[in-house]
Amino acid sequence: RRLPILAVDGPAGAGKSTVTRRAAQALGLQYLDTGAMYRAVTWWCLENNLDLRDEPAVVEAIAHCQLRLESSDPHQPTRVWINDREVSQAIRSLEVTQRVSQVAALRGVRRLMVRQQRAIGANGGIAAEGRDIGTHVFPEAGLKIFLTASPAERAQRRWQELQQQGQCDLSYEELLAQITARDTADQQRTYAPFRKAADAIEICTDNLGIDEVVSKIVHLYRSRL
Ligand code: C5P
Repeated sequence: RRLPILAVDGPAGAGKSTVTRRAAQALGLQYLDTGAMYRAVTWWCLENNLDLRDEPAVVEAIAHCQLRLESSDPHQPTRVWINDREVSQAIRSLEVTQRVSQVAALRGVRRLMVRQQRAIGANGGIAAEGRDIGTHVFPEAGLKIFLTASPAERAQRRWQELQQQGQCDLSYEELLAQITARDTADQQRTYAPFRKAADAIEICTDNLGIDEVVSKIVHLYRSRL
């Protein structure tokens, strides 16, 4: 039997990846991190010194890219290869994070990514996270979650995470500015802008632990089977 799709959208740093990955594991769904796809093609463009304002050149380069995602370990971020180069770490760099919204705003780029995402979800049974999953990629999803947290909370979590990894060159204020700039860019683009779908259920995670959020989503999904 075809299982419904779980769509999770939300702003930068709301905890979508961790929550979606764990919900997918609990529900026996395949996990798809669409942000990792936009990050990987952005990395490729930077690596090849493309002018990101030259849309035809960017789209042409990305059209020839072979992306591979692997999410076998529910406790680790998705592993990503582009043209057989592993970029799992590289796509999380500050540089990629600062440029990804610009590449993701290009219509031709989105068309290529969305085509691959729909192919992956063609048989249902996936938990996909991103910015346009419920509104554009899988508008027919069986459950749509809009995961949020206040900007301050999101910047705080991100800062702590980076501190723990011992690699934070940015202050809390800089992180907060970066997060809000990315949200605004994603919301203001013309093609498939980041929005809450009308039929999405919003969960604000400010005062919730990861386990609580995951179990809320798991219950909601099961209640719709
Ligand atoms: O979720 P993550 O922070 O990895 O996403 C990186 C960027 O990829 C977002 O800021 C956005 O510009 C883009 N993105 C998108 N549509 C998606 C997922 C991500 O435009 N479905």
